[in-house]
Amino acid sequence: MFKAKAFSVTSPTAPFAPDSIPRRDPGPDDVQIEILFCGICHSDLHYSRNEWSAVMPAAYPCVPGHEIVGRVTKVGSAVSKFQIGDLAGVGCLVDSDRTCPECKAGLEQFCANGVLTYGGPDKHLGGVTYGGYSDTVVVDQHFALHIPSNLNLAAAAPLLCAGITTYSPMRHWCVSKGKKVGIVGLGGLGHMGVKFAHALGAHTVVFTTSPNKVDDALRLGADEVVISRNADEMKKHAGTFNFILDAVSADHDINAYTQLLARDGNITLVGAPEKPLSLSSFGLIFGRKSISGSPIGGLAETHEMLDFCGQHNITSDVEVIAIQQINEAYDRLLKSDVKYRFSIDMASLKSE
Ligand SMILES: NC(=O)c1ccc[n+]([C@@H]2O[C@H](COP(=O)([O-])OP(=O)(O)OC[C@H]3O[C@@H](n4cnc5c(N)ncnc54)[C@H](OP(=O)(O)O)[C@@H]3O)[C@@H](O)[C@H]2O)c1
Ligand SMILES: [Zn+2]
Ligand SMILES: [Zn+2]
Repeated sequence: MFKAKAFSVTSPTAPFAPDSIPRRDPGPDDVQIEILFCGICHSDLHYSRNEWSAVMPAAYPCVPGHEIVGRVTKVGSAVSKFQIGDLAGVGCLVDSDRTCPECKAGLEQFCANGVLTYGGPDKHLGGVTYGGYSDTVVVDQHFALHIPSNLNLAAAAPLLCAGITTYSPMRHWCVSKGKKVGIVGLGGLGHMGVKFAHALGAHTVVFTTSPNKVDDALRLGADEVVISRNADEMKKHAGTFNFILDAVSADHDINAYTQLLARDGNITLVGAPEKPLSLSSFGLIFGRKSISGSPIGGLAETHEMLDFCGQHNITSDVEVIAIQQINEAYDRLLKSDVKYRFSIDMASLKSE
């Protein structure tokens, strides 16, 4: 075991502060990664402030961060996938049982024994796992991903959560040319959703509450932008969407979007607000529409998504910050004031 530098919170209301956390010495199948960049996901905020207490109570001290990219500094004796010096990424999962039907199907995100990158049971050291707001992480090679070498590293980090979380449901629901696709909420997830829907050839419509994001939405690949608080603008799209991805982090009216679905259309929730949404059955009944949810993606699909990003030169639009700016970054995240993902430059942790 060794100590790594990190930033943690000790309660739902405490600000982030420097901390020291244990990391295991790499075992035969492990890679040790020097973290270079870590994205800030809204899930980091929900979890560290214990907003998901009903489903996933937070453990403190809490070191969030599951959009990790870095360089391999050590490899265990059985590691074949990475060499020292390689770039590597880590997303939301650091372990699973590898034996259940879900794991065997490459769908580790559904494994009943999956271990999340932070706040999960640490099988090696006891206690809970600590995430990427840190200088180092040690992970089984199966859960580390190759990062295409043409991608900017700070901007590639968010692919590990925001990227796969939007790519996976779009692939599942066959987003492609000829489909009309809506993206609700132009945040970290939403802006990746726009890039993927556009790259997959769909007619892409962004729904935003922020009029100042309209130009960006068009630049990111949207064909149309709707200010969702404008009921007249919303009405024009009634009954026309094949698929809508809802990436909103706070309470909002989901029924305004089921009305926009065409027959057999689907709306998939990836946003995970603190409070339950209120759903009218009639919005689904007339039109045989469906609503579903989707968590991240499995390792194989995450590899596929990273390859797709390498081929299409897709990364996140990031604001690179020092770890010392993290409390201010959380305040801005809550105000939907990020263009469009914070990526922490972990070199800033060296001075702590
Ligand atoms: N399913 C999964 O596996 C998974 C993975 C990662 C994250 N998530 C969840 O997905 C959600 C989004 O994460 P994120 O990191 O993309 O967050 P984010 O960057 O904060 O983006 C959320 C966006 O939602 C919109 N929004 C915020 N408050 C709103 C309100 N009151 N009414 C309507 N729209 C509002 C804003 O877009 P506009 O300004 O355009 O309106 C905002 O930019 C979070 O709940 C997060 O926990 C789920
Ligand atoms: Zn996330
Ligand atoms: Zn499993």
